[in-house]
Amino acid sequence: MTRTDQDTRILPAYAHQAMSYDSDTSIHQPWRQRLVESLPLRAGDTVLDIGCGTGLCFPLLLDRVGPTGTILGIDSAPEMLAVARAKAVTNGWDGVRLVAEPVETAEIPGMADAAVFCAVHDILQSPAALDNVFAHLRPGAWVAATGGKWPAAWQVPLTLFVRSLHAPYVRDFRGFDRPWRLLANRLEDVRVSEVAFGGGYLALGRVTTTAEPPRSAQPARRW
Ligand SMILES: C[S@@+](CC[C@H](N)C(=O)[O-])C[C@H]1O[C@@H](n2cnc3c(N)ncnc32)[C@H](O)[C@@H]1O
Repeated sequence: MTRTDQDTRILPAYAHQAMSYDSDTSIHQPWRQRLVESLPLRAGDTVLDIGCGTGLCFPLLLDRVGPTGTILGIDSAPEMLAVARAKAVTNGWDGVRLVAEPVETAEIPGMADAAVFCAVHDILQSPAALDNVFAHLRPGAWVAATGGKWPAAWQVPLTLFVRSLHAPYVRDFRGFDRPWRLLANRLEDVRVSEVAFGGGYLALGRVTTTAEPPRSAQPARRW
């Protein structure tokens, strides 16, 4: 299957899912909260929400960066961003900016203090997307990611459940054993914890502040 075939298969799904996305994925909300709580954000920070979808992380992030902070949401699905934009207008989220482009080519203004990758497996497998994001993170910026992963091989029923839970939102399950792998290669002090009995993960690290290459990613472990 070519990339173009895959895109036409997955992108209309987001078009149809946009209106019901928040209720369809409410089971993931505790992980969004843990993701944002894991970031040591400060008032006034700028945070990139990579593949922000309908903006479910926005209120959590805005609580942390305050009225002087900025959330830059990037997403290529216009229908998902339309929902995010409507929420921003309705709730008066003046600190939210939206970029309607693929992460790989999005014009990202300035240098951000942090980035979140929430339930965006396909983006995490895209070196071009990570190149663009990391070119706009300051040294020492914090990066957090969460999403599904394959549990241990013997957990067959859980594996089937994880697959059905994530199939509507994952274009390609390659890399689903360690979805944070490419991200972790670009970060230092990476901590990865398995959640949901191994069917999910939380990863946190910092953009390197030195010229030294970051240490390679640690395997998943429980905190
Ligand atoms: C499963 S949703 C996650 C949305 C949100 N982060 C959340 O926590 O609910 C994945 C989102 O990533 C977006 N996406 C996938 N690949 C993308 C890419 N290459 N560039 C920009 N957005 C992308 C999709 O349009 C979709 O809105």
